[in-house]
Amino acid sequence: MKHTLLLLLGCVFTLSAGATRDTASFNDNWKFARFGAMPNGSQLEEPKGMEKPGLNDSRWLTLNLPHDWAIEGPFRAELPNQTGKLPWAGIGWYRKSFDSPESDAGKRVFIEFDGSMSRTKVWLNGEYIGEWPYGYSSFQLELTGKLKVGQENTIAVRLDNKPDSSRWYPGGGIYRNVRLVKTGPVHVAHWGTFVTTPKVSGESATIHITTQIEGASADVEVSHEVLKEGSNKVLASGNGTDCSIELASPKLWDLENPNLYQVKTTVFKGGEAVDRYDTSFGIRTIKYTANGFFLNGKKVRMNGVCQHHDLGPLGTAVNVRAIERQIEILKEFGVNAIRTAHNPPAPEFLDQCDRMGILVQVEAFDVWARKKVVNDYSTLFADWYEKDLKAMIHRDRNHPCVVMWSTGNEMIELRYPEDAALSQQLRELVNAEDPTRPCTFGNSRPEASTNGFQNTADVFGFNYKPHMYEQFRKDNPDLPLYGSETASTVSSRGEYFFPVSDNKKEGSGGYFQVSSYDLSAPNWAYRPDIEFEAQDKYPWVFGEFVWTGFDYIGEPTPYNKDKTNLLNFTDPAEKARMKKELAALGGNIPPRSSYFGIVDLCGFPKDRFYMYQAKWRPELPMAHILPHWNWPERVGKITPVHVYTSGDEAELFLNGKSLGRKKKGEFEYRLRWDDVVYEPGKLKVEAYKNGKKWAASETKTTGKAVKLELSADRKKIAADGTDLSFVTVQVSDNDGLLVPRTHNSVKYTLSGPGEIIAVGNGDPVSHESFQATERKVFNGLALVVIRSKAGEAGKIELTAESEGLESAKISVKAK
Ligand code: GAL
Repeated sequence: MKHTLLLLLGCVFTLSAGATRDTASFNDNWKFARFGAMPNGSQLEEPKGMEKPGLNDSRWLTLNLPHDWAIEGPFRAELPNQTGKLPWAGIGWYRKSFDSPESDAGKRVFIEFDGSMSRTKVWLNGEYIGEWPYGYSSFQLELTGKLKVGQENTIAVRLDNKPDSSRWYPGGGIYRNVRLVKTGPVHVAHWGTFVTTPKVSGESATIHITTQIEGASADVEVSHEVLKEGSNKVLASGNGTDCSIELASPKLWDLENPNLYQVKTTVFKGGEAVDRYDTSFGIRTIKYTANGFFLNGKKVRMNGVCQHHDLGPLGTAVNVRAIERQIEILKEFGVNAIRTAHNPPAPEFLDQCDRMGILVQVEAFDVWARKKVVNDYSTLFADWYEKDLKAMIHRDRNHPCVVMWSTGNEMIELRYPEDAALSQQLRELVNAEDPTRPCTFGNSRPEASTNGFQNTADVFGFNYKPHMYEQFRKDNPDLPLYGSETASTVSSRGEYFFPVSDNKKEGSGGYFQVSSYDLSAPNWAYRPDIEFEAQDKYPWVFGEFVWTGFDYIGEPTPYNKDKTNLLNFTDPAEKARMKKELAALGGNIPPRSSYFGIVDLCGFPKDRFYMYQAKWRPELPMAHILPHWNWPERVGKITPVHVYTSGDEAELFLNGKSLGRKKKGEFEYRLRWDDVVYEPGKLKVEAYKNGKKWAASETKTTGKAVKLELSADRKKIAADGTDLSFVTVQVSDNDGLLVPRTHNSVKYTLSGPGEIIAVGNGDPVSHESFQATERKVFNGLALVVIRSKAGEAGKIELTAESEGLESAKISVKAK
């Protein structure tokens, strides 16, 4: 009876919904100026009164958000390697004038920031509105009351990035989206719905919705309709601020079929619809036991990566296509989980993970009250952690992709057993705000599994401790365990140095490059194989999060802060050469982005991409050979060959001659032919699985570089001013083979309704600007990112030219 009534109400409500919520992008046409530390290294005093409505800002830069104020550079030798040698520190002001129509009278008006870096303060018409210092949090500020209805208004935003406030490149500016939201006096509060699915079976699901209403009174009612995302058909409905709805035959959210639903909430006052609010959600169950992680009752191993928030050459400015492309590339080598190291992500990132079937650990902080660098979040922690944690959870708790909350990473507190009380306090807050997902944190300290901290985690994450998994289980028989950070292997795409050393501290070569044999790692870290072994030995460990999926800007370990690594060359002659170079540099070493990525900063696979693919996509027939085979100076010299394959056995041939068939032993994840004597020609590998031919691949000594070739990830993009086409530039020989060790400088010109917004090549040392129309290839490859123009359809044509090479053209349609 009750059920029928709810359904009926649902119908009536749909017909009468004429609610007043209005959400609009507030990204366009801002004025921007920098003060304090300027990009060129000079200082410019910040004048007073930047928030005043009458200020003449006509000479300020005009731009659209999202905007990363530092990505345009320049790279400066004296800036810290750790944060990418880019000028992100300093003060920035953004101003925007806008009309408030008469219809705003009686409404509540809010500005919403998805994230601005950092220490945001906001004024409207010269009056202070509010602030939010943490650059990774989303927040809302209310303009009602101070807004001049029917007139022009001026909003002013001050950001202040203190130097030494991050361990990686944080970017700067209003780098995520901004919206203006207008509602009636009675409305769903900010992030005011919480949708859970407490009971799920094949036949039905219970959908529980709690709704927080602003301006609630006795005559206010709330109704909800459940729809499949993208469909208009109402599948079920209910009402009330604490509402349970039964849905028959639910389509579950899982990694293969990430089905999504929507709750459409309508708020009524005196029978009249006064607000509509949509919540996207998924129906799924998650469970963690000492035996593993279970999604919808099925055990799933998390094949995860940690990701920082930058989008490579695009910097930190949010772009949906760039995020989607990153996830596509990660999925290609088998990633099914991402840890947002070490901060809350852009909301668009979670939308994509929902849609693409990725499990996410959302992390709050890199530090708590004890600092890692002088001006980091520890300076804000006491006043803000509660607000920041709540902002994170309230914003993201309806995403089916989110399966864990992390309160932090390798906090200094872990060294102090008495600080476990703080950890417990944060955990209780997280559990109270969302009882449906476990709370965790990343532990670097071995003793944190026994010193009390282990009792403050619902699931326990070890950073770089595969050797401790067994002991952990003895000490903590019931606590679910995973590798919150693993491997941290370092390499530069396409670089190989000889002799090859198994000493993880060696492998440097060239000009601040690291060998791509995937054997090098800093002292706390190790090659991928070692974690694989632990994960295979202890199948109750529910997965790993490799440091990292993509290279990121900043933290160029082994050339980060610890300069003792600078001469870890295996070749003594090379070491002597580099010693001289270093003396000439006088301490300012140039590396500016990480070597940790499984793919480089542009998204080009490094060799270990295939090692992970072999392990994480065992059903995909594949084999990969390294190194490349262009070594004219190595004829007659030992040049080891390694093979990554999803097969279990392989035979290697050099110029048709077998170099032997090898079988992977237990806990072996690469096949090695360490005594190959180099001669030019063709290396071929034939892989087998269970004795049957499984995959083959070859690598050849190429001819000389004769031409450029261009390929686009997408040849049709939307003419919306945000869609992107990522064009790969390759230096090829006559047969179209990538010519290794090439560094040709290439010029790019573009015609038609698009623009080149970034270039890159994956070289962690390059100080060439990301915003240019010229860029060298790095070991044969470069990347050009093209963006469409809003409302301008047509053919975009990119031409690439380089001296001595045949040029290339490609066209992309904007529609
Ligand atoms: C970890 C840390 C990460 C990153 C990584 C590099 O200890 O949590 O943020 O610095 O090391 O290996």
